[in-house]
Amino acid sequence: MTVDEIRRAYLEFFEARDHAVLPSDSLVPENDPSLLFTGAGMNQFKDYFLGLRKDLRRATTSQKCLRTGDLENVGVTSFHHTFFEMLGNFSFADYFKREAIAWAWEFLVDVLGLPADRLSVTVYEEDDEAFGIWREEIGLPEGRITRLGAKSNFWPSNAPADGPNGPCGPCSEIFFDTGAPKCDDPGCNEDCDCGKYVEVWNLVFTQFDRRDGGELVPLPGANVDTGMGFERVVAVVKGTSSAYETELFRPIIDVVSELSGVAYDRADPAHRRLRRIADHARAAVFCICDGVRPGNEGRGYVLRRILRRAIRDGILLGLEETFLHRLVPPVLDIMGDAYPEIREGRQNVEILVRNEEERFRATYEQGMARLEKAVAKLAEEGETVLPGRVAFEMYDTYGFPLDLAKVILEERGLDVDEAGFEVEMERRRAESRDASQMGADIFSRGPLAEVSREHGDTEFDGYGEDVVEGRTIALLADDEILEEAAAGREVVLVTDRSPFYAEAGGQVGDAGRIEALDGSFAMEVTRTLKTEGLHLHQGRIESGTARAGLEVRLSVDSARRRATERNHTATHLLHRALRSRLGESVEQSGSLVAPDRLTFDFTHHEGLGEDDLREVEREVNRVIREDRAVVTAIRDLEEARASGAMALFGEKYGDRVRVVSVGDYSTELCGGTHVGRTGEIGTFRIVRERSVAAGIRRIEALTGEGAVERSLTDRRALGDAAKLLRVKEDELPTRIGELLAELKERRKAATRPAAATPAVDPASLLEAAEEHGGVRIVAASVPGAGVPQLRALCDGIRARTEASAICVLDPEGKAVQVVVAGGTAALEAGFDSGRAIRAVTGVLGGGGGGKPAMAQGKGRDASRVEEALEVFRAEARKLLGDG
Ligand code: SER
Repeated sequence: MTVDEIRRAYLEFFEARDHAVLPSDSLVPENDPSLLFTGAGMNQFKDYFLGLRKDLRRATTSQKCLRTGDLENVGVTSFHHTFFEMLGNFSFADYFKREAIAWAWEFLVDVLGLPADRLSVTVYEEDDEAFGIWREEIGLPEGRITRLGAKSNFWPSNAPADGPNGPCGPCSEIFFDTGAPKCDDPGCNEDCDCGKYVEVWNLVFTQFDRRDGGELVPLPGANVDTGMGFERVVAVVKGTSSAYETELFRPIIDVVSELSGVAYDRADPAHRRLRRIADHARAAVFCICDGVRPGNEGRGYVLRRILRRAIRDGILLGLEETFLHRLVPPVLDIMGDAYPEIREGRQNVEILVRNEEERFRATYEQGMARLEKAVAKLAEEGETVLPGRVAFEMYDTYGFPLDLAKVILEERGLDVDEAGFEVEMERRRAESRDASQMGADIFSRGPLAEVSREHGDTEFDGYGEDVVEGRTIALLADDEILEEAAAGREVVLVTDRSPFYAEAGGQVGDAGRIEALDGSFAMEVTRTLKTEGLHLHQGRIESGTARAGLEVRLSVDSARRRATERNHTATHLLHRALRSRLGESVEQSGSLVAPDRLTFDFTHHEGLGEDDLREVEREVNRVIREDRAVVTAIRDLEEARASGAMALFGEKYGDRVRVVSVGDYSTELCGGTHVGRTGEIGTFRIVRERSVAAGIRRIEALTGEGAVERSLTDRRALGDAAKLLRVKEDELPTRIGELLAELKERRKAATRPAAATPAVDPASLLEAAEEHGGVRIVAASVPGAGVPQLRALCDGIRARTEASAICVLDPEGKAVQVVVAGGTAALEAGFDSGRAIRAVTGVLGGGGGGKPAMAQGKGRDASRVEEALEVFRAEARKLLGDG
């Protein structure tokens, strides 16, 4: 069986037993800030377990999961992964232990063909029912059924004692015996982590509602939640010692091997790096495709750490160039059939990964510098051991692994306090476990969840109406439900229906007013958000007192909304036009649709030329003039995709999607609000195009009134400029060019020293000069003169007498500047400036040259100026001969 076949066999097995096959939920849990990442198949079914939703009795999924609590073990052991798939079957108050156990057994033994005698199970110590089913109905010998406590066999682990409150239950786990001998621990059994027994499947019997104090109240319907680790099952079925050796990972590992020349060899510790890179590449691709971006907190930080660990491993394998983005294609090849959503936006993923690697490689170099500093400090203090805290900071901040730090330090006879490093590392592990584990909040959400449970979702009327009447259902401030709120108070008001668009898909939320029909309060809404299916109107109570249960009129600020709609439809047109002009490889990677402007980010390898920008602007304006109808329709996701609707990368869509079409020009999946016809946009102007990250460009544009206002402002500026310069507007560039050239010339002239007034006067130099055969030999140092002034001095002397051989120099500045000149009479007598300068600059350690009448040069050695002048005199005398 191929890995795709194993996955499919599982889903089909349960489909044949009346389970609805549902798609995996996003890796990023929606509306659940308490949970960083989806860590189990059951997450998306919380409401069913709680009995809040009843439209489904049986479901099965293969769920994308991410757990980072055991990050350090990934690659080291055979069975730890960050990203993994969990196959699950779920019963919501339908079948229970008997069916769950029998089907699990049937699937493993009959479908996957695993040898029954290598399977064993654990049950919760008090769960006689599960024990009985395994013993009597499946016929497992007693010796292969181990009873364990609530730590191992309750889900969530230890829930009776430690919580969380909410649905929980005993579980039964199925293990595969790898055939390895038992470890040294005399108590070695399924619970031991020596690797002999591999847990493949966890069957949770969610039958209790835990209450405060640990009381377990039976749930009205008993549920089943199972989770089978796909990677483990694959390894077991394929008879390999881990999934890394199967087609689930090997193609990724092979690319790294090829690039680095390091073969995957389990005898070589380097194979762990290859595994880790492969694991992390999968995790990164899936995170990014579900909308996570590398950052410094929360999910973004987890992604960044994962990326950095992989890059670091690559560096240690000797990969000098960015490489991680090259693993995106094999990940897509292996996983794309099961999770088609990852195939979209491939270019975006590659760009993001490469950018992160470029940035990290730079940080890594800083880390090296930091290490050098730390080493210098050690030397200064006469120490030989780098403190664990510093080593950990290097690791945590710069991604600098301990082993690399050790190698570098060892070369210099230094050591690292590894124990201290471990202490810090353990602290960080505990933090990340807390952050990524299924926390106590799985089943308890904030007050808004209560409101939506009681009243259902807010009904949105804003696609058609700006004003509707509704009823207030809750009032909140700082996440607390309020009884009432008086004038002046900032609140969040929730109503049963609303025309206010809530911030989503780049479109800003609406502003407006809410007033009680009985006049008891009025509120100004400045922002609208959405969570738990509720529209949250944020703003200030202007007058009266607001409370729940009041009839209200909700009025959207129509002018603001219309302006936003113009920008939103224009964004779709811009997207289409960019693709027409630059090619279909252009992918949207972000957008902001506000009343006063729009910005659109997209992938493109270079800046847009003036021609591209004008052409795109022209095309959008053409479609605006064609006044095409903008039509929205609700369709099946697959059907919409098949018809070529553009979907956004990293965006989550349900089964039914809203499709916005502009004639046959553009079709996009979009929940935003739009103009009725393109003509309403009026006009479209691009005001700026720039880079926002490597490979990602941003266009800022205006429409409607904003564009008109901008044109008027531009025209006024042009008109004023033309008037000031007394030219026609279209002559402005030429005139400004001329003026700039003139200005430059004048500036240059202003800084040029006035040739007429040298600081040292030629007359006094002549006076001090010796005479040789009727020619004055002037040799002088003029500190600070600069070349122009030196030349001016020569001119000044020659103006007084052409019977002069001159050498003036300026020893200040970076080099000694030398000018040598000869008047016509001196030249006739044999003087040659070119020859003289070589003698002079030779002494000064430099060079120079020129014509007999004038030569210039420089030298480095200012300490030999006097000597140089002496050499000039001698050389001049020589050239002039005996006179
Ligand atoms: N929720 C259980 C687990 O995560 C079984 O799916 O192991």
